[in-house]
Amino acid sequence: MPKVLALETSCDESAAAVVELCAGRTEVVAHRIASQVEEHAQWGGVVPEIASRRHVEALPHLIGAVLDEAGQTVADMDAVAATVTPGLVGALMVGSVTGRTLAALHGKPFMGVHHLEAHLASVRLASSPPEPPYVVLLVSGGHTELILVAIDGGLQRLGRSHDDAAGEAFDKVARLLGLAYPGGPAIQAAARDGDPKRFPLPKGRVSRPEGGFYPYDFSFSGLKTAMLRQVESLRAQSDALPLEDLAASFEQVVVDVLVERSLRCCLDRSLSTLVMVGGVAANVRLRRHMEQQGRERGVSVHLAPLAYCTDNAAMVGAAALGRLQAGWGESSIRLGVSARWPLEGGGDLYGQDPQF
Ligand code: KG4
Ligand code: ZN
Repeated sequence: MPKVLALETSCDESAAAVVELCAGRTEVVAHRIASQVEEHAQWGGVVPEIASRRHVEALPHLIGAVLDEAGQTVADMDAVAATVTPGLVGALMVGSVTGRTLAALHGKPFMGVHHLEAHLASVRLASSPPEPPYVVLLVSGGHTELILVAIDGGLQRLGRSHDDAAGEAFDKVARLLGLAYPGGPAIQAAARDGDPKRFPLPKGRVSRPEGGFYPYDFSFSGLKTAMLRQVESLRAQSDALPLEDLAASFEQVVVDVLVERSLRCCLDRSLSTLVMVGGVAANVRLRRHMEQQGRERGVSVHLAPLAYCTDNAAMVGAAALGRLQAGWGESSIRLGVSARWPLEGGGDLYGQDPQF
């Protein structure tokens, strides 16, 4: 059965995993994550230099631990995979150099993986993964996109955010409310017993130059400003902010927007399957509403497993196995890293004449 050792170091989570294809199913044999969140929290966000250093320290231990747990060595692997784009260049470099070195030492193919392709592949780690065609809502700290995955696996972007990603909005609003980084889990915790209807907030539509709105696009900057104005006006009245209600109202409006536009996108295309992946897909309210409203509107909703929504290496392994299975072969050992690369260009990572 094809097996890969996969590494993820694109941002502030160092991760390693052994992932295997077993009778058509993608199985996680072992996976570990060393989160740096607490260290970055002191600075209110990710400090790239610190992230790279921590990856250098953590990665050898994580690789040793997953191989031990799997009872295997690099020699047993069919390939070594690492995220090479998009992300923080110094951070990506750690996983890429480690992966290429292990691959070269053991005479194994190296596979450079696109981070967003890995998020998309995370749904294959669910107990009953969907078959294309479907629409994916990719909702993370850097991206909020609706992507059509065709029967042949081809990708087409149908919607996107014109400013902040949803996760970025969670992080910035959390900071405004004095909550910890990362903002998503902090807002979710504060919102649990809050009143989601207390503060009316805007749903951020993106106007078309010819009139009307882009139906599947997002904008979170107006919502952020509305939260700022609300907090300023509440502060003028009292020192104590109604944190729970503010967090719940914010979380609810983000959930409403994501659910409405994603389901509309599916239904307009007569597709009956929606997939949701990425860090924000870990949000409990979002998961509940997406499933409930999908059921009501005849759309079958497939969520990435909770453990594989935020950055991890199991999804990197799943993406690499997907490429292996589809006959894409290996990346060049000279493939470097890139801060940006389009998702549609994921195949560019597998030539012997690398683009970066
Ligand atoms: O996918 P991810 O780990 O990294 C990127 O590729 O961006 O996503 C991180 C983002 C952060 O903005 C974080 O605040 C958000 O996902 N996030 C959440 C939750 N858990 C993580 N947002 C809302 N609710 C959550 N439970
Ligand atoms: Zn990510």
